[in-house]
Amino acid sequence: MKISVIGLGYLGATHAVAMAKLGHEVLGIEPDPKKLQALNAGVLPFHEPGLDVALQEVLADGSLKLASGHSEASREIELHFICVGTPQLAGSDKADTSYVFSAAKELASWVSKTAVVAGKSTVPVGTAKELKEEMSKVAGFEVNLAWNPEFLREGTALEDSLSPDRIVVGAWNDHSVTVLKTAYSEILKKGTPFLVLDVPTAELVKVAANSFLATKISFINAMAEVAEVSGADVVALANAIGYDERIGNKFLRSGVGFGGGCLPKDIRGFVARAEELGVGSAVEFLKDVDAINLRRRQRVVDLAKQELGSVAGKTVLMLGISFKPDSDDLRDSPALEIATQLSGLGAKVLVHDPVSLEALSLKQPALIPQEDVAAGFSEADLVILGTEWKQYKELDPSKLDARTKTVIDGRNVLDVPKWQGAGWKVIALGRNL
Ligand code: UDX
Repeated sequence: MKISVIGLGYLGATHAVAMAKLGHEVLGIEPDPKKLQALNAGVLPFHEPGLDVALQEVLADGSLKLASGHSEASREIELHFICVGTPQLAGSDKADTSYVFSAAKELASWVSKTAVVAGKSTVPVGTAKELKEEMSKVAGFEVNLAWNPEFLREGTALEDSLSPDRIVVGAWNDHSVTVLKTAYSEILKKGTPFLVLDVPTAELVKVAANSFLATKISFINAMAEVAEVSGADVVALANAIGYDERIGNKFLRSGVGFGGGCLPKDIRGFVARAEELGVGSAVEFLKDVDAINLRRRQRVVDLAKQELGSVAGKTVLMLGISFKPDSDDLRDSPALEIATQLSGLGAKVLVHDPVSLEALSLKQPALIPQEDVAAGFSEADLVILGTEWKQYKELDPSKLDARTKTVIDGRNVLDVPKWQGAGWKVIALGRNL
C-alpha cells in the first residue's frame, strides 16, 4: 500500500519505519531540512534503541523515501498518517494543535477522494471533527479522516509499533476502517485486537490511557509521602498491593516521578480541554496528580539541602538526566529539573548520562557533562540517581569513592544492603533506611 507519514519527529519517524517494515511503500514528509538531512543519511535526531538500524534498512531497500513536502506523488497515496507534535502551548496548559491544523490543511490540497487521512497525534477531544471540516473545505469534497492514536513508549518505540497491545481506530465511515485494517494486516494476523470506535472516543482513549498511567505513578508517590513520615516502606507497599491482580504491579515504581513529552503535557491538556467543555471538575484530580509528581522533584532538592547544609560550592553528581532510560529525551525530565535547581542554588552539578550529554550541553550549559562516572563519584559531596539506567543499578559501590559517601536513590533501584555494606549512606524516596 502507498502510505505517507507526515512529521518525522519521534512518533512519525518510528511509524514511517514500522510501516515500511510491514511491507508498505512509504513516503516520509519532514519540512525541517536538518532533520530531513539526518534521516536521509540514516541518522536519527534522537536516541532510540534499534530504530536507527531499521531506518537504514528501509532506506536501503527503498521502502521508505523522504521528502520535504507534498508533490504529485502525494495524489497517489492511499493512506496518509499525520504524526506532527502537539506540545504544551507556551504560557498555558493547553495542547498546541497548530502543527496538526497546518499539516492537515496543507495535505488537503493533495489528498485524493478515496485516500484516508489518519491522525496519530495526541489531540484534545473534538479536534478531529474541526480538522475534517477544514480539510474538506480546502479539498472541495468530504475528506476521509479517521483517528488512530499511538501508544508507543520511548525506548521500545519500534517494538511497540510492530507489536502493539491494540490498534484503535475512530472513523466516520467503513472505507476508512477497511483501509486502516489493510495497512495493519500483518499486525492483525498475530491476533492483535482492532478496536473500531467513534472518533471522539478514539481521541479520548489516548489521553485517558496516559492520565490513568500518570495517576498510577502519582498514587504510589503519594504513598511514598505517607511512608516517609510513618516509618513505612513504599517499595514493599507497592509490591504487596501489586499482587492483587485488579491493581497489578506495573507502573507502581516510586521515585522522582514521571516526565517526558507525553504524560505531563497530556494530563494538563486534558484538564484544560475538560474545562473548556464545562466538565473541569471531572478531571480536577489530575491537577493533584501533577502536583504530587512535581513535589517529588522538590523533595529531592530539599533532601540535598538537608544533607549538604548549604548547597552553594558543593559538588553534586547526577546519575542520569533523561526522563527515562534508553532515551536522550530531556523534555520535562525530573532529573534535569532537580539538577538545574541545585545548580541555581550554587552547587557544581556534574551530570553523567549514557546518551544525553550532547543534548544537555545545548539545553542547560550550566550543568557539567561528566563522561567518566568513577571520576565524577570521587569529586562528589552527594550523588543523586535521577534516571534508572541499567548501568547505575549494576555499579559496584565498593569500588566507588566520594568526598562524602551519600547517595539519594531517586528511582528506588539500588541494592540498598550492598551500598550500605560498602559504607554508603543511602537515602531513598518513601523509605526509611
Ligand atoms: C508514555 C506512555 O506510556 C505511552 O503509551 C504513550 O504513547 C506516550 O507516553 P513514555 O513517555 O515513552 O510513554 O514513557 P513511560 O514509559 O510511560 O514513562 C513515563 C514516565 O513515567 C518516565 O519518566 C518514567 O520514568 C516514569 N515512571 C514510569 C515512573 O516514575 N514510575 C513507573 O512505575 C513508570
